[in-house]
Amino acid sequence: MSPDAMKKIDEMNETLRQVAALPEHEAQCLPGRFYTDPDYFRYEVETFLSKEWHCLGRADEIPNPGDYFVTQLFDEPLLVARGNDGQVRVMSNLCRHRGMPIVEGSGSTRRFVCSYHAWTYGRSGELLNAPRMQDKGVSEKNCSLPTFRSELWNGFIYVNLDDNAQPLAPRLGQLESLLGNYRTSEMRIVRTFEEDWHTNWKCLVENFMEAYHLSIVHPETLHPYTPTGLSRKSMADDSFTSYCANYPETAASRGTGSPALTEDERRRSTLFNLFPAQIASQAATLLVSFSIKPLAVDRIRVRWTMSTYGDELTQDELEERIALWFEVNREDREKLEKMQRALASRHAPSGHLAPRDYEGTIWDFYRYLGRQIPVAETPLRVVRA
Ligand code: FES
Ligand SMILES: [Fe+2]
Repeated sequence: MSPDAMKKIDEMNETLRQVAALPEHEAQCLPGRFYTDPDYFRYEVETFLSKEWHCLGRADEIPNPGDYFVTQLFDEPLLVARGNDGQVRVMSNLCRHRGMPIVEGSGSTRRFVCSYHAWTYGRSGELLNAPRMQDKGVSEKNCSLPTFRSELWNGFIYVNLDDNAQPLAPRLGQLESLLGNYRTSEMRIVRTFEEDWHTNWKCLVENFMEAYHLSIVHPETLHPYTPTGLSRKSMADDSFTSYCANYPETAASRGTGSPALTEDERRRSTLFNLFPAQIASQAATLLVSFSIKPLAVDRIRVRWTMSTYGDELTQDELEERIALWFEVNREDREKLEKMQRALASRHAPSGHLAPRDYEGTIWDFYRYLGRQIPVAETPLRVVRA
């Protein structure tokens, strides 16, 4: 990066530091350039986004050995597959010969065969065959597919592109206690969908995590059962933030879900952001999770999954919920894409955030971002006698 770009990033980080240090009741938005500056986006990717844990999907999307789906995270094409040993692995979806992507989409297979020169890999990525390469020293040892660090937690598949990353699960204790009764790991997949949105990745995180817009942007879809006025900020720690979107007493039940749930838990959706880029809504019978993959400063790929608990919801009810979420996403997307085009303005505001029950989660998110700023090395002081 040029010295000018570095100077700009230092200045922006100073602003972020100040915004993240504001007390909650004085919380403010980040200025528009944090969402529109390509240098800052590159900086975010290089310094922390590419080193964090990212959710890729649900383990029961690939229930049987040989099941797989592909996806991409930053520069890495990924192949997520279940091996003969039943383990989920996240592998490089790049042929070890000359780099052709090995598979596309999703499916089930006995082996992965590269479409270019037919190098063949097993379900765990082990090289099985490389035609006409007998004398070339090509072996399972040196030409199997590299595997990335991955973890399963509550039925979600996570990957970290950084081989030295700290494990994820040990820091999710508090989020675990928030979700525990929902039995998230038992929920079963009903739909997966992927699309590109023209917005900065942080805009979607912030939008999903604030209740302030619910009654305004979603008057017919969400307001009847999660109105802004009943939303309450919930738990947060260094790894996540959350709020509860409570249903009005007059609203019809949306299902019983797990027997462990309290009545209060049945009558709300819990929305959480596992920093940085997983956002999800957990309700008694429905779990909707979005994996946000930043592509450019103003573009993201959103892979979302919908899961349900047990067989309580009929197929028709599930179709209704799917249609509702498509509509909710359309409403949010329209707002975010419009805002993205405007945020480059030199008048883009650094406005006040709404009170904690409505936008307090954004303040938590900024404090997470603030913690990602590298601490400047303090020069050693030589004390002379
Ligand atoms: S690139 Fe895959 S076999 Fe050649
Ligand atoms: Fe929304």
